[in-house]
Amino acid sequence: MSKPTNLEPSELGTKEYWDNLYTTELTNHAHNPSDTGTVWFDDSDAETKLIDFLSAPDLVPSLNLSQATTSFLDLGTGNGSLLFGLRDAGWAGRMLGVDYSRQSIEFARRLAQARISPDSSSSSSSLSDPDSARSDDDEERAGVVGRRENEQPITFLEHDILRTSPAALLTSAQSRGWDVVLDKGTFDAISLSSETDPATGRRVAESYRSKIAPLVREGGLFLVTSCNWTEAELRGWFAGPAKEGEEGEVDEETRRWRFEEVGRVKYPSFSFGGVKGQTISSLCFRKVRNIEK
Ligand SMILES: C[S@@+](CC[C@H](N)C(=O)[O-])C[C@H]1O[C@@H](n2cnc3c(N)ncnc32)[C@H](O)[C@@H]1O
Repeated sequence: MSKPTNLEPSELGTKEYWDNLYTTELTNHAHNPSDTGTVWFDDSDAETKLIDFLSAPDLVPSLNLSQATTSFLDLGTGNGSLLFGLRDAGWAGRMLGVDYSRQSIEFARRLAQARISPDSSSSSSSLSDPDSARSDDDEERAGVVGRRENEQPITFLEHDILRTSPAALLTSAQSRGWDVVLDKGTFDAISLSSETDPATGRRVAESYRSKIAPLVREGGLFLVTSCNWTEAELRGWFAGPAKEGEEGEVDEETRRWRFEEVGRVKYPSFSFGGVKGQTISSLCFRKVRNIEK
């Protein structure tokens, strides 16, 4: 499966754009605590559909996810809404949301804090800024997490997926990877960056797969949702083994793995000029070992 052609860059591919957006959302939230910010792809009801997809074992019978223990890593978490939605749907395992925008993490932490004590939503007392992943105990001591009574903590960390080593997110029980890695709109944003990888001279979107693959445990899932890429194009980016010349850092370990498609989320489709399409696409891949020759 060949890689799709890169997209025309836009401001949505810049950190400045996201910093400004979340600064505005923080201000809005401070004025009106019930304003919890943008939920991307809300018009397609993506969040509910993703949660239903993960929660309905008949959709993907072999996934066998335990609601009690499944760990989730949300890449480019924004306001953390997808993780809060999963918690509310009964998923009780470890959850970490990462984003390269400091303001996004500050916002998500405020919303997390508001889940425990609604009056604290505009306080900044819990917004310490750790520069690396910590153990669950450390996180709780540092007050960087939020939970309702008896709820496992949800942690939010500033982390640049492309420029920081994935190892920073592989700590404690997740040293071998996360059970489910989520991306809702983040590969879309990265696909719109004009930046190039200094090692290869190629657009940074082309190194995304090699950055996220180590974050998924063997047998774990990568669930990606996009409005910029069709299902066929997402397959082109993610399905199969690491692609030759795909990025600068494909090491031996990376070559041992591939992503196998295990499911898709159904959205309403439309027909236009005889062509069928849908406004967004979500594909679910499982990380499996390549058969040794
Ligand atoms: C379209 S928004 C989606 C936010 C969230 N996932 C949601 O569905 O509401 C894209 C997110 O990706 C984040 N992002 C873009 N490039 C990133 C990078 N290199 N590392 C981490 N986060 C990134 C942005 O800051 C932004 O929060």
